[in-house]
Amino acid sequence: MNDLKAEIGKRRIFGIISHPDAGKTTLTEKLLLFGGAIQKAGTVKRNKAEKTATSDFMEIEKQRGISVATSVMGFSYKGCQINILDTPGHKDFAEDTYRTLTAVDSVILVIDCVKGVEEQTRKLMHVCRMRHIPVMVFINKMDREGKDPFDLLEEIEKELNISTRPLSWPIGIGSTFAGVYHLYKKQLKLFSGNYKKQIAHDYIQLEDISSKELENQVGENAAQKLREEAELVEGVYEPFDLALYRSGYLAPVFFGSAINNFGIEELLDTFIEIAPSPQPRETDKRIVNPEEDKFSGFIFKIHANLDPNHRDRIAFCRICSGKFERNKFYQHIRLGKKLKFSSPTSFMADAKSLVEEAWPGDVIGLYDAGNFKIGDTLTEGEQMRYMGIPSFSPEIFKELENTDPMKTKQLEKGISQLVDEGVAQLFVQNLGSRKFVGTVGELQFEVIKFRLLHEYGASCNFRAISFTKASWISSEKTEQLERLKRSQANRIAYDKEDRPVYLSNSKWDIESTMREYPDIVFHETSEY
Ligand code: G4P
Repeated sequence: MNDLKAEIGKRRIFGIISHPDAGKTTLTEKLLLFGGAIQKAGTVKRNKAEKTATSDFMEIEKQRGISVATSVMGFSYKGCQINILDTPGHKDFAEDTYRTLTAVDSVILVIDCVKGVEEQTRKLMHVCRMRHIPVMVFINKMDREGKDPFDLLEEIEKELNISTRPLSWPIGIGSTFAGVYHLYKKQLKLFSGNYKKQIAHDYIQLEDISSKELENQVGENAAQKLREEAELVEGVYEPFDLALYRSGYLAPVFFGSAINNFGIEELLDTFIEIAPSPQPRETDKRIVNPEEDKFSGFIFKIHANLDPNHRDRIAFCRICSGKFERNKFYQHIRLGKKLKFSSPTSFMADAKSLVEEAWPGDVIGLYDAGNFKIGDTLTEGEQMRYMGIPSFSPEIFKELENTDPMKTKQLEKGISQLVDEGVAQLFVQNLGSRKFVGTVGELQFEVIKFRLLHEYGASCNFRAISFTKASWISSEKTEQLERLKRSQANRIAYDKEDRPVYLSNSKWDIESTMREYPDIVFHETSEY
């Protein structure tokens, strides 16, 4: 039991989120460099395919291959065992990112100081706020001519609906960027502008910034500016409040330049100090404490094997309580059967290795021959399911058309497995004779078509339809629900759990239906 407590205390599991190009990959790489998990920069592959909207299938495939390795990156730092869960930046894969956020205990948000808050940041932060995930902000690219730091903080507060508290403060920006001052640790770190590929721990302890030493280090103008701004910061912002951060209301902010390895150490040191270790989690029956001695966990991601000859997949399991052991039987709650895993893997940066045991806050990869769906729970027998893997409404809907009737079975199996993996959502009408596939981006339709053909030998077409939103519907008044289902049968479909959804094609459209059926609740997500 003591072992368990100590292991939990060491673990941190988090995700890095950003709008594409803000510097997520670069920051990830530098964190791994600090953790000694990689030896030199350039090891973490930049998923260029994510950034292009082109349908270069091989690139997509390669990217899928790469992202198996980069889905989870573990490293140790100052006695902590840290797991970074990768979140695709491309908006077409946003659903994947939302789900990954269900498996983390905190996030680091990267913001490009030139661009400020961008579209993807808004959406991802919305999910973090819904789940009260603690957020730390890293304002990146301070070596470029960016926005004024005060304006950036105001923009973050206003647009992302979260309070901020700078813990470090930049001295100048762009061509005048001279370094950062850590407001709490009272440390000055000077920016040299050299592209540093290695780690330097060269800070200057400066308890009092009114001392002449500041001028000596950064020159008169910069010194004066830092003093004024630091005073303003202390006047405007409340002292940092750990409890507010932990409950997701206050984001501590750091400034730096990921590519220059600058500002990362402060971020990481503070991260291990304040970011939460594995937290209790909600199931449909009760809250489960990580320190309970019985193992439990859930699947938050499934990755298909690239090799069509080996159709097995890797299911990523986040351990929530107790100790996981190799070759021990665990209960698969949805299927009601016992499974054991002979070759569970752990992920350290770019390598995978077999694990004998794993602890809350760890992520293990389980080889799967089709048993798992996203959201599945494993326990030592207790009947409970982890909550919090909601589906959000897709943004693009298309009707799936079978173009090879001889391969109907393969198509059915393929689409069902891809939906289990979370590549897309499926809504059916008329007992499955009509299938609507919903995604957040066009790219997925190409991925699905390609994978159905190459992995299942099935061919299909996607026909454009006018729906733009799915709302999960429920009501205490069953007769009202039944009336809606009858009168607008062409709008009603069922998701993979057979829950009814209302498909609409405009705000006006859904609002008029809501008025007509006041006792029906139209839910934004599948979890209500
Ligand atoms: P992403 O994962 O969030 O999409 O961003 P990524 O790290 O790939 O960074 C996007 C671009 O921003 C990269 O340039 C990267 O080198 C650059 N970058 C990251 N951090 C900084 C920084 O602190 N300062 C400056 N000036 N640039 C930064 P690229 O040209 O797209 O790629 P590459 O040719 O450098 O590989």
